[in-house]
Amino acid sequence: MKYSDLDLHTRGQARFVDDLPEPEGLLHAVVLSSPAAHGRIIRLDAGKAVETDGVHAVLTADDIPGANEIGTLVADEPLLAEETVHFIGQPVALILADSERQARAALPRIDLEIDELPALVDPREAKARGELIVPPRTFCLGDVEATWKECDLVVEGTVDSGAQEHLYLETQGSLALPGERGTVRVISSTQRPTGVQRVIARLLGLAMHQVEVEVTRLGGAFGGKEDQATAWAALAALGAVIRKAPVKLVLHRQEDMIFTGKRHPYTSDFRIGLNYGGRILAYEVDFYQNAGAAADLSPAILERTLFHCTGSYFVPNVKATAYCCRTNLLPNTAFRGFGGPQGMFVIEAALFKAAVALGMSPAEIQEKNLLEEGDTFPYGMTARGCSAPVCWQEAKSRYDYKETLKRVEEFNTSHVLEKKGLAFMPVCFGISFTNAVLNQGGALVHVYSDGSVSVSTGAVEMGQGVKYKILEVAARVFSIDRKRVKVESTSTLRVANTSPTAASTGTDLNGKATELACRAILERLKGVAAGELGEEDPAKVEILEERIFYDGEKTKLMWEHLIPRVYSRRVNLSAQAHYATPGIHFDKATEKGEPFSYHAYGTAICEVTLDCLRGTYEVDAVRVVHDLGPSLAPDVDLGQAEGGIVQGIGWLTLEEVLYSDQGRLLTGTLSTYKVPDIYHTPRELEVHFLERGENPFGVFNSKAIGEPPFMYGIGVFFALLGAIKAFRPGIDVPITAPLTPERVLMTLYGNRLAELKGLGVENPTGV
Ligand code: MTE
Ligand code: HPA
Ligand code: MOS
Repeated sequence: MKYSDLDLHTRGQARFVDDLPEPEGLLHAVVLSSPAAHGRIIRLDAGKAVETDGVHAVLTADDIPGANEIGTLVADEPLLAEETVHFIGQPVALILADSERQARAALPRIDLEIDELPALVDPREAKARGELIVPPRTFCLGDVEATWKECDLVVEGTVDSGAQEHLYLETQGSLALPGERGTVRVISSTQRPTGVQRVIARLLGLAMHQVEVEVTRLGGAFGGKEDQATAWAALAALGAVIRKAPVKLVLHRQEDMIFTGKRHPYTSDFRIGLNYGGRILAYEVDFYQNAGAAADLSPAILERTLFHCTGSYFVPNVKATAYCCRTNLLPNTAFRGFGGPQGMFVIEAALFKAAVALGMSPAEIQEKNLLEEGDTFPYGMTARGCSAPVCWQEAKSRYDYKETLKRVEEFNTSHVLEKKGLAFMPVCFGISFTNAVLNQGGALVHVYSDGSVSVSTGAVEMGQGVKYKILEVAARVFSIDRKRVKVESTSTLRVANTSPTAASTGTDLNGKATELACRAILERLKGVAAGELGEEDPAKVEILEERIFYDGEKTKLMWEHLIPRVYSRRVNLSAQAHYATPGIHFDKATEKGEPFSYHAYGTAICEVTLDCLRGTYEVDAVRVVHDLGPSLAPDVDLGQAEGGIVQGIGWLTLEEVLYSDQGRLLTGTLSTYKVPDIYHTPRELEVHFLERGENPFGVFNSKAIGEPPFMYGIGVFFALLGAIKAFRPGIDVPITAPLTPERVLMTLYGNRLAELKGLGVENPTGV
């Protein structure tokens, strides 16, 4: 792919924070963090550490000139602990030294004594004790209470889903450079440059214009740098301003895993009512979100869980309640899907359990209840441009579901120790920030006098290809060769008041702003071109592949000649533009509104083979039909879909984050935490994009792709449950993700082994 960063990546030439040339006098920063999940600091003495070789300073909360507060939604998170600590890994002090080695050597010389208090790790217990970060919220549609008695079947259950480590390749980090008059320039690996700028300004008692934040690219983020990049940037800036020297702070992998929050684990209770025909009549659900020790983005993530609580289905009566539970774990944070996957997982579990009880296949119930055009979501919005049924049907026919099902059934009849499972996973994902204010983007475009074009926007490149798509937008509007366009780093100096690059909206918001800015320049170019051609009507001027046309006729005038003429006529070749998504709103008092500009739809069919003796499994295939609209960059979008699917599979199968009862992370290394590798990717991974449709909210009708495919991975979980059921039809399967091979084995044999061994049975597996 030309004009993306791919060539730089493959040559190892793409620069990340830790690769930047080190300025003279650079100080290296290392963080001392809390070893206790909860406690009172009774002594913090850095005297000995400061005397260590090469150490310049040890900074604590007392050194912060402004507000020691980095919370985004709730002011409940100090940058450096004061008096109390609330999770293991919470920053307490910052050591600045000539080298990283010297800074690390000083770490154990800080005398930190903590009087430990009991740690709370369980969200249900937190709720019972009233430890909620924000009051609970409930989304209602229809009347569940009145409907239960009309149901032929009511099924209840509990569903657990685990945390997930982001494991971006580039760990969190920042380089802060002090400027004149106490100003600071910060290079940060963040999805949210403006947020970092705002926090640093407040922390240091500066105005925002005294703080510049710049991002070239991130080596991955996946939501993990939407909020949690801020602390490291703020610490580096604090050091730089206080010591008047450049400061670099880059976390080691293990520190990154131990210091930073993950996807939220949820535990949820559901109750679902259906009729004998398989129609869902009522659904009630309580979500307990393990937020960890500070709010971070948890309330917004919880809200998105509520928005997606009914998945891709129409449910006429809904009552969904969500609790944001404060515990003494790391503050959990944004991760691809932003709470949506956790909500959708529960309704899929409910449908699976209902199908078992009704003796129907889950697919039949799913299909029967699929969203249709005009259906109402629990939050009051109606489904418009709903392609849920189209994608479902297209997946069924394209991937010959009938034949697949037959093959799977035959396999299961002819195999004793191996079973296959098959599951559909429809996805409906709302596009827009659920916080309406954030739905704005900005762009600054310069056309230089040689005809080359520079584009700056608020979007941050994190591997998702947003810069490539922005480049495509500018090149298309001007109709010029792509090599003329350069998309710049993201800087708060060039584009101000930006939203995080998140919620899959990076291209929609900033691409639209780019389009507007380019069109503003194009209008001026047309005016000059008409003049140059001795014609009257600028509206009849068109640029097609670098050539100027008038009234449909080819002229001799080319882009490269036109631009210098525009300059010499003293016409402005630069434009700034702002885009705000129209029409979106949400009223928290009634929990109704139009929070999304549109929804992304698609369906996956997942097939797995389970080794019923060992509990190990293989994902044979994930086959997807996804409604994408006309793509700005088909290769990028395919990569997003494939990456998202594999990451989703990882969340539900392999990736297990474990904490001790005392809140200590037990899986803080890559030898204890397993992400999918090439052997765990589906043998067959097919994604078919539907390219039809108009989308006024996307640039050139394109649609967001960053997060939605992640949720196809949920289908693999239920395919595995199907395989387990094929082997042991009678057993009750606990719905607990991740479904690791160990968990499968325990599900298959846990009780039985104990039971049969007690009876002296020689062959406890019974096969
Ligand atoms: N793809 C890569 N390679 N790296 C990432 O960090 N983040 C995901 C997704 N795809 C991510 C990614 C997440 S969580 C989001 S919200 C979107 O990209 C953000 O970018 P977009 O808005 O431009 O789609
Ligand atoms: N997604 C990602 N980040 C966000 C959102 C969202 O919906 N709302 C606020 N921050
Ligand atoms: Mo993505 S979780 O919205 O950064």
